[in-house]
Amino acid sequence: AANTPPTPEETVVTDKYAFAFDIDGVLIRGGKVIPEAVEAMRMLNGQNSYGIKIPYIFVTNGGGKTEQERCIQLSQQLEMEVSPGQFICGHTPMREMAQKYHTVLVVGGEGEKCRLVAEGYGFKDVVTPGDIIKDNIDTTPFRKLTEEEYKNSRVRNFGEIEIDAIFVFADSRDWASDQQIILDLLMSKKGRLGTRSETFDEGPPVFFSHNDVVWSTSHDLTRIGMGALRVSLEAMFKAVTGKELVTTAFGKPQVGTFEFATRLLQQWRKHTHGIDSPPDTVYFVGDTPESDIRGTNEFNEKAENTWYSILVRTGVFREGTVPKFTPKATVDNVLDAVKHGMEREA
Ligand code: G3P
Ligand code: MG
Repeated sequence: AANTPPTPEETVVTDKYAFAFDIDGVLIRGGKVIPEAVEAMRMLNGQNSYGIKIPYIFVTNGGGKTEQERCIQLSQQLEMEVSPGQFICGHTPMREMAQKYHTVLVVGGEGEKCRLVAEGYGFKDVVTPGDIIKDNIDTTPFRKLTEEEYKNSRVRNFGEIEIDAIFVFADSRDWASDQQIILDLLMSKKGRLGTRSETFDEGPPVFFSHNDVVWSTSHDLTRIGMGALRVSLEAMFKAVTGKELVTTAFGKPQVGTFEFATRLLQQWRKHTHGIDSPPDTVYFVGDTPESDIRGTNEFNEKAENTWYSILVRTGVFREGTVPKFTPKATVDNVLDAVKHGMEREA
């Protein structure tokens, strides 16, 4: 039985290397699992001829629900258990700002989900666009709240509230009304709705959970994402006020996200596998050159050559084009990416 792959009980966990995965365009597309992803995860979990298990984490720019909820969904899709201890989404690092800003506007996502995410992060007073429309229905001439939205929105008197920061947690479901509300705040006196600043430089700061202009979903061609909203907002602010708007984006390719991922991987390897030393190599598998490959390559320079970028052909990147940022390897899909890393280490 020399050729039979070892059973998971006989496998050892390697401390030499690890994997980190992007989600959309690599493991999932349009809510459906990319078939090779299930097999790729099985290989990492010990179903391979090397007799090893390889630790891994997930680093997505997506968001819109709690990390826990997202992991339950991912576990079903990948047919294995995914723990929040190995998962970061675009808005995860925003939890570190909950102490700094008291009253915040949270934009994007479905229904009340992002409000709940923000409250879970410890934000004390979370306002949604729905609350603002409920307080003054004339805010957005072409958007009326649905019965459900009206019911969930909280009655406030925004004439007396200062909004300290704006966080775009997930894709806006209504660009026009969300942008109107963000613009109103940016043009206000210190985040007080209904007022207009004379200088347009005292509005709250705006944070986006990532900067992906396009992303890969169920359509054959890429779809516009949160980065496109950011571009749009900045252009609109300029058109209306004549001034430059400076906003901040989290997520990949920001170095901070990769540092966050490094800490998560370190904790994950320690707590679940008892590994104390850092890995020699982290293979990052992504589909978006501007986020995944750029971020991995730039971080690699800071991280003593330990991060290795692998680009897949199942998402944003299309064969026949030249990616703006050059990966260490380009492969058809996530299964080939896992095989590439394992062969390189063997
Ligand atoms: O909205 C999510 C999308 O822009 C990217 O997600 O998993 O490819 O980082 P992901
Ligand atoms: Mg992706």
